[in-house]
Amino acid sequence: MTLPQPTARTGADQDVEVSLTVNGSPVTVSLPARVTLSDALRDHLGLTGTHVGCEHGICGMCTVLVDGDAARACLLFAVQLDGAEITTVEGLGRPDELHPLQEAFGRHHGLQCGFCTPGFLMSSYDLLTHEPDVEREDLPSKLSGVLCRCTGYRGIVDAVDEVAHAHRDGLPGPGNCHRRTLVGRTAAGTTVPPAVDQPAGEGPGADEGHPEEIALPEGEPTIRIDVTSALDAAPEDVARVFHDVRLLARCLPGAELTDDLGDDWYRGRARVALGPVKLAFNGMAHILEQSDERIRMNGQGRDSGGGGAQAGITMVAAPGDDGGTTLRATADVFLTGRIAGFGRSLAGDVSRRMFADFARALDRAAAGEEPAVDARPPSAVALLWSSLVDRVRARRRRATSGRRRRP
Ligand code: FES
Ligand code: FES
Repeated sequence: MTLPQPTARTGADQDVEVSLTVNGSPVTVSLPARVTLSDALRDHLGLTGTHVGCEHGICGMCTVLVDGDAARACLLFAVQLDGAEITTVEGLGRPDELHPLQEAFGRHHGLQCGFCTPGFLMSSYDLLTHEPDVEREDLPSKLSGVLCRCTGYRGIVDAVDEVAHAHRDGLPGPGNCHRRTLVGRTAAGTTVPPAVDQPAGEGPGADEGHPEEIALPEGEPTIRIDVTSALDAAPEDVARVFHDVRLLARCLPGAELTDDLGDDWYRGRARVALGPVKLAFNGMAHILEQSDERIRMNGQGRDSGGGGAQAGITMVAAPGDDGGTTLRATADVFLTGRIAGFGRSLAGDVSRRMFADFARALDRAAAGEEPAVDARPPSAVALLWSSLVDRVRARRRRATSGRRRRP
């Protein structure tokens, strides 16, 4: 492995810009020169799968791949790695399609508390790609660079031995490395929205307009949403809301449009409650298509805790029953950082619930009423209450329009 050399003397606390490819995604982060690769991954990119134990190069917990070779992330400065390709445990496999090593560790009880597991997985990956013919009796010494405090070595050796025998002709590569736009905590560049505690129109990026595009990641999204709602409002009233982006934004619970950046770009905030955890995102949205029947947009944002979200959203309105509208909303949502750890099912439930609430608010807006979305993150009680109120209102509207239609 040849590491790029710093080209100038830099103070330890002086910010430097480092461009890396992390799990297939190009990313540029701005950080002090003293920051290690492990801290850059965890604190600046939200990739907390890389664990940090001793921070002295002893325990091996922080092992990642740098340009294809295993390396201690705690012993490298991020600034040394400008231009390098980094693979972390997050890039090894997907939750729904684990890497053979991850599957084998589970099958052979190769993890207990799991703290050493990312280091063992990346170290084993490096071993089997460089020495596919490794023999079982050599595994304890070959893997001795990583320490397991739970002393689960027997299961770890069984797992690695099984994978070695199953893939003598070549270990499958990392299965979760796709091009995606990682949303770094302090990354420089116009693709990164301002920090969450900065007022709209201030902070990095405020005067820089908008990026050329919001590039959604390739590969499977974290959450795929497909929600169809029956609205009482007529299609032409829904079309009116589709053409009023400010009104449309007010229909989304917890969302606020703060700036119109021109060229169909908007900056805004969104607050979301994921169980007991409250997230506040700042981000941008780009309207890609807008007609009476259809609106399509890409959005991205980050929250102050290092989480990132990107989404491609399409809404299609079609004539429904009784003069109403059928609204179909589809979205591919990609989560990174700590929010990705909440799990697909919780994040998926909350996202679907928000879309259902959005549809109810859009129905009210199309009827000329206030969408009545307050700035607080939606709570379960508020959602239940708004659902009941909507049902009563919908019944009233149906009764009124039924009376109007009767000859
Ligand atoms: S944390 Fe890097 S070797 Fe222990
Ligand atoms: S499984 Fe606990 S430290 Fe290894």
